[in-house]
Amino acid sequence: MSDARFPSLRSVARRAVEASPSLRTWAEGLGVDALRRGPLAPSPPRPRGLPWHVPMGTFERLDHLMKISLAHGDVVRLEFPKLTAHLLSHPDHVQRVLIDDHRRFSKQTRGYETLRLFLGNGLVTSEGEFWLRQRRIAQPAFHRKRIAGFADGIVRAAADLGRAWAPRAASGETVDVASEMMQLTLRIAGETMLSADPSGQAGAVGAALEILQKEVNRRLDSPWVPPVEWPTPHNRRLRAATEQLDRIVLDLIDRRRRGREQGDDLLQMLLEARDEETGAGMDDRQLRDEVMTVFLAGHETTSNALTWTFYLLSRAPQIARALHEEAVRVLGDRPATADDLPALDLTRRVLQESMRLYPPVWILGRSPTEDLDVDGYRIPRGSLVFLSQWVTHRHPKWWENPEGFDPDRWLPERMRGLHRHQYFPFAAGPRMCIGAGLAQMEGQLVLATLARHYRVQPVPGQRVEPEPLITLRPRGGLPSTLHRID
Ligand code: HEM
Repeated sequence: MSDARFPSLRSVARRAVEASPSLRTWAEGLGVDALRRGPLAPSPPRPRGLPWHVPMGTFERLDHLMKISLAHGDVVRLEFPKLTAHLLSHPDHVQRVLIDDHRRFSKQTRGYETLRLFLGNGLVTSEGEFWLRQRRIAQPAFHRKRIAGFADGIVRAAADLGRAWAPRAASGETVDVASEMMQLTLRIAGETMLSADPSGQAGAVGAALEILQKEVNRRLDSPWVPPVEWPTPHNRRLRAATEQLDRIVLDLIDRRRRGREQGDDLLQMLLEARDEETGAGMDDRQLRDEVMTVFLAGHETTSNALTWTFYLLSRAPQIARALHEEAVRVLGDRPATADDLPALDLTRRVLQESMRLYPPVWILGRSPTEDLDVDGYRIPRGSLVFLSQWVTHRHPKWWENPEGFDPDRWLPERMRGLHRHQYFPFAAGPRMCIGAGLAQMEGQLVLATLARHYRVQPVPGQRVEPEPLITLRPRGGLPSTLHRID
């Protein structure tokens, strides 16, 4: 007998499950269709053991992801304490998540939530109409013609670095090429996007970024973390690092607002943008979020790409020599310009190959907003989906000699037959990197300028290992000696 005044246990359970995606994900993880909508597609295979036994930020984490993809296929389920994640490794999945079905995936994930702690609601972390409006405002700053105008500044910065390297090469001192690249790309990001040179603060910015990356990863890796407002030692470190970057960025905005500095750059566009309906401009908070986003997204990634390129070249002397010869042939003794880019073809392919093996962004996370079927497997709403450049870029199913550094694989005749999305260092679709064109140009010009005069030799005996934080840095930098090769 049931009493109509009281809901049945089943309807209470059903309502609870409807209201809570995580409860539903958990029930579905057990193979139970909590909403009883008919037979369910099976859950993807799941490796034995716990996915979080390999700490974040270690090479083993990368290796583990690769191994489970090789062992269990293109769709793998990973059970975390309060979350089910799925690693999708097929290029078709890249196309589906980032392009065809992008509306069915959100950035409401723990990863982006944690990034929002310091990036706020800028272009990388925002969504929906708000993101679209901000992207439209920022897009003209990245137009091809406008970017070409940045070439001379980029070459000047690289040539200055080349000059500063001369005495250091002569003395044979050890130089950390990772931090040199960080300083250089910071100057370039500042000059191109903000018409300012914050590279005097590069040390502070680099240190603050490293703290942020580590703290963000620690938060992502722990089953439970105290709210960021609690004054724990880790939270204090996170807040101090954010405040340090805030001070630098807000100072830039303040100087521009007061008209002490003018610029024909992204910051000026953001400052002048007006809401079509209200006519209101962006407040300092939103400006800060956008500037911080471009600042960080733009320099850390490019710096890692260049650092890994020098590392790979040091292990492939023939390719390094050919690269130097290309720079000599194309540039002679004059500075590079935007017009040289097509002729610097090996330089372009070297960078492309370097970002295949060491993708500066090695993983992307999304959350499906509805239940989906991927290759006959059930991917529940509210769970997590990972696409990993590290895995897909090195997967033997897609690449011949996947671990080999082979810039010639990017020659047109050898590219035939590649899947359009087996290589996605800049993501794809509407949320593709807005700075991809700038990054590619910057990489080519910096590499040609430095390779024209230098060979980088990492200190012997130093173990160079990728550290998968938000971006892929070499753990402990890249201590090296510099060798002049005019
Ligand atoms: C080698 C260098 C770079 C790599 C590998 C890279 C990679 C990426 C990737 C994978 C995304 C997608 C992130 C996601 O889905 O959450 C992204 C987005 C973004 N990148 Fe880059 N990036 C690079 C350089 C730059 C530069 C130079 C800038 C600006 C100066 C920049 C600004 C951005 C912004 C603003 C977004 C968010 C775009 C949006 O969602 O509308 N990036 N980048």
